[in-house]
Amino acid sequence: LPEHYTLPSGDKIPAVALGVWQASPGEVGAAVKTALNAGYRHIDGAWIYRNEEEVGQAIKQSGVARKDLWLTSKLWNTFHAPEDVEPALDDSLAKLGTDYLDLYLIHWPVAFKKDTSEVDEALTADPYPTWQKLEELVEKGKVRNIGISNFNIPRVKNLTANNLKVQPAVNQVELNFWNPQPELLAWSKENGLLLEAYSPLGSNKQVKETLNQPEVRKIAETLGITPAQAIISWHVQRGTIVLPKSVTPSRVEENFKVFPLPDDLFDKLEAAATAHKPLRVVNPSKGWRLGYDVFDDYP
Ligand code: A2P
Repeated sequence: LPEHYTLPSGDKIPAVALGVWQASPGEVGAAVKTALNAGYRHIDGAWIYRNEEEVGQAIKQSGVARKDLWLTSKLWNTFHAPEDVEPALDDSLAKLGTDYLDLYLIHWPVAFKKDTSEVDEALTADPYPTWQKLEELVEKGKVRNIGISNFNIPRVKNLTANNLKVQPAVNQVELNFWNPQPELLAWSKENGLLLEAYSPLGSNKQVKETLNQPEVRKIAETLGITPAQAIISWHVQRGTIVLPKSVTPSRVEENFKVFPLPDDLFDKLEAAATAHKPLRVVNPSKGWRLGYDVFDDYP
């Protein structure tokens, strides 16, 4: 299985990252150190996870050189107004204790008005002004690659229909046994857009059931690996980056080891994942009172 994918910029992004969403203060730093010790060189974070300072301190304490690390962060919904983009990045950089990011994503295709959770309709309908600011940050050297997150196909097309100077390098979306999104994956491959799988185990709500699926257990037994390793390997074999979250040292170590799956076992797991009705584990549309589902067709 690939250890890296090469982005349009030529940069190599490690296939397995530590995800730090829902990693609590006091836990996340230790998880980052365990991960770096175990060989991870990719940390997937975001401003809104509210743990960037602790992540930054752990990185510093680990002694791993900045140039050997891949750091991703994400622009929160309240900062989509063009004048707010660079200050938001600067805040993440300061918290992480670095002067550039390897990858900066628009966290959601939803813009809030500054300091509120009220939707900014114009910037939500058209994220191009926000994207142009991200392009400027690439020119300035503050971010090496830019991308999007939680964009469905129509929303990607809506953005890329503009005359972009920099194409999105990745789209980070929920991908797991319950919501494997085969159409989005196929379309993204055809269009040279790499997907990153968040909640790859099904997040804390579904992880137990994921690891208990017969097709997952079968792979684990046949290859002598753990169910989590079977699922994480499946993601990489599908051609996506995978961002498992754990704050448990043994799991952090376990999750970093991926194994090529025999085609027949891979196909059976893929078939089982895509046979049932998709079940999304993460969907804030109601909580944000959007009045529509952010993952439904648009515009
Ligand atoms: P914890 O952080 O307490 O170790 P996802 O990456 O899909 O969001 O899933 C994260 C959830 O899965 C967390 O609850 C995490 O628990 C749990 N988890 C992570 N790795 C493993 C593993 N190897 N085995 C079992 N559970 C795991």
